[in-house]
Amino acid sequence: MNFELTEEHLAVQQAARDFAQTELLPEVIERDEHQKFPAEQIKKMGELGFMGMMVDPKYGGGGMDTISYVLAMEEISKIDASASVCMSVNNSLVCWGLETFGSEEQKQKYLVQLATGQAIGAFCLSEPEAGSDATSQKTTAIDNGDHYILNGTKNWITNGNSASYYLVIAQTDIDKGHKGINAFIVEKAWAGVTVGKKEEKMGIRGSDTHSIMFQDVVVPKENRIGEDGFGFKFAMKVLSGGRIGIAAQALGIASGAYELSLKYSKERKAFGKEIMHHQAIAFKLADMATEIEAARMLCLKAAWLKDQHLNYDRASAMAKLFASEVAMKTAVEAVQVHGGYGYVKEYHVERMMRDAKITQIYEGTSEVQRVVISRDVLR
Ligand code: CAA
Repeated sequence: MNFELTEEHLAVQQAARDFAQTELLPEVIERDEHQKFPAEQIKKMGELGFMGMMVDPKYGGGGMDTISYVLAMEEISKIDASASVCMSVNNSLVCWGLETFGSEEQKQKYLVQLATGQAIGAFCLSEPEAGSDATSQKTTAIDNGDHYILNGTKNWITNGNSASYYLVIAQTDIDKGHKGINAFIVEKAWAGVTVGKKEEKMGIRGSDTHSIMFQDVVVPKENRIGEDGFGFKFAMKVLSGGRIGIAAQALGIASGAYELSLKYSKERKAFGKEIMHHQAIAFKLADMATEIEAARMLCLKAAWLKDQHLNYDRASAMAKLFASEVAMKTAVEAVQVHGGYGYVKEYHVERMMRDAKITQIYEGTSEVQRVVISRDVLR
């Protein structure tokens, strides 16, 4: 067993770290305050290859492994979790889904733009009444010869307004349950597609989260992904990989909060010495460092399994479950280490505490991860 990262991995990690420090850090507080999507920064991330990291270079991607993706996600998320969720959805849900299950025509038409960051993608599964229970889709796509007619509303869609292309999961035959669900590529510019209100969120406020409405949208048959009835399995497979991305995001939030806490505790003095010399603080830092390391191992293990083409469903759920709990706990403790300064925006950790919470909710709540893990454990 070799725990050492390769030179390529270290180079990707360093490039992401440099980008986050120089391009994301300067206005991250303002973007959070004004709910401003990091459009310019995402464009640059596309130019640097961070938006289609694992895609084959023949489709404009970086041709990198999932371990590189985890390393880059951690570094970007340390500084700006709003930018990193856009990156994660585009990489793991949209690009990976299209590259793995899309037709050659779909790859040429859509994947090339998405992998190079010329266009952003979104994944539309959740509905007002179908969150964790993803089989209960109310959005319908009725077969009408050479096309489907799509109707319905999707909620909490990351990249909802900034995306040009949506992967939409819809019910095509209610009698067939999950086998009557399909996935489609839908263009934002098509007639009948409306971007709904922007959600006013607790955290990841720089990401644009919207509801999307589809009214009698004509979707050509060639825009269905895979065989008829493959949509639910498509969503499950895509989300399984996506959970590695969100686990890495949670890891990044945790390590960002930890690094700030470490720095602060070396500078801040109380009772005649730097606060790191008080055991109350030193033990918090020890716990943070230990839990973050464990979360990192779970993320890298899941990524490694994926790169080896082994089953990673259980590993990705474990990584997401654990890393998101570590993110929440570490961010709360980071605020505590900072005392009063932790409660104001300037010191970043209050934002991290708000951002951490979503990692326990999206791409499957912690409860959903426990469903996935327990079913595997009990099998
Ligand atoms: N790979 C392949 N197939 C899978 C699979 C996987 N990982 N998981 C399940 N399936 C298959 C099953 O084998 C089954 O098929 P068969 O009947 O042919 O055997 C079928 O899918 C149905 O599976 P289940 O019976 O397990 O389905 P369920 O209704 O019990 O649901 C669940 C299980 C895990 C709770 C699932 O519904 C789920 O993951 N829900 C959460 C959805 C989610 O993560 N939503 C997030 C929205 S996207 C988002 O947040 C993105 C963003 O913007 C950041």
